[in-house]
Amino acid sequence: MKIIMLGAPGAGKGTQAKMIAEKYKIPHVSTGDIFRANIKNGTELGKEAKKYIDQGFLVPDELTVKILLDRVAKDDCKNGYVLDGFPRTIPQAEVLDKALSEMGDGIDYAINVDVPDENIVRRMSGRRACLACGATYHIAHIPPKKEGICDTCGQELVLRDDDKPETVLNRLKVYHDQTQPLIDFYAAQGVLKNVDGTVDMKDVFAAIVDILG
Ligand code: AP5
Ligand code: MG
Repeated sequence: MKIIMLGAPGAGKGTQAKMIAEKYKIPHVSTGDIFRANIKNGTELGKEAKKYIDQGFLVPDELTVKILLDRVAKDDCKNGYVLDGFPRTIPQAEVLDKALSEMGDGIDYAINVDVPDENIVRRMSGRRACLACGATYHIAHIPPKKEGICDTCGQELVLRDDDKPETVLNRLKVYHDQTQPLIDFYAAQGVLKNVDGTVDMKDVFAAIVDILG
């Protein structure tokens, strides 16, 4: 099963993708997590990506597409995957489509987690992220068991640099300009499914499970 998560920054793509990956036993592939791991490790890719990410802009397609195609070519992706944060532009979606159709394959579901802009800025300031394993918490809605510490791997949780309110507003603008058109793109392919992302995360997940079966 090949799934794409669509939605604004902070809509809950990562939160839901993790639960999907666990239930359906497919890898969770997040380009944002891959970039953050590279930034943390000080790689060349990380240094380049950080210039864009910290300002709320997209990393150029040339860099992003290669990373994603390399990742989904790995063995663990043979039976499918859930993509979180990719594609984010029409050219990225076209490259993915082409790569899949060359293998006689395609995307099964594009799940759009719908959350209005007003909710987003509030959510982001409360988010805490684990840069080691990619787990995400919220200080009010989804707190870790021990304050400031990741439940999964025990590392320290941080407020992401790009979660400052002014950067979030820019990310939202970039989302509306460059990523939202993907909703029509996947609707035209007949694979788009909308879910309400404003309800409790368990209810969002239940709606997704209804769709995926
Ligand atoms: P990325 O990491 O993908 O960030 P994003 O899309 O902005 O999305 P977020 O991770 O911020 O939000 P999310 O939807 O995963 O929400 P989450 O589950 O954490 O990308 C970061 C940057 O990398 C981009 O800005 C770009 O520069 C670059 N990049 C990445 N991919 C790229 C690409 N393909 N092309 C070019 N550049 C790329 O939830 C948010 C918060 O809400 C959390 O605190 C969570 O606990 C809480 N929450 C979740 N669900 C609920 C709920 N139902 N109710 C209440 N709270 C909830
Ligand atoms: Mg995320």
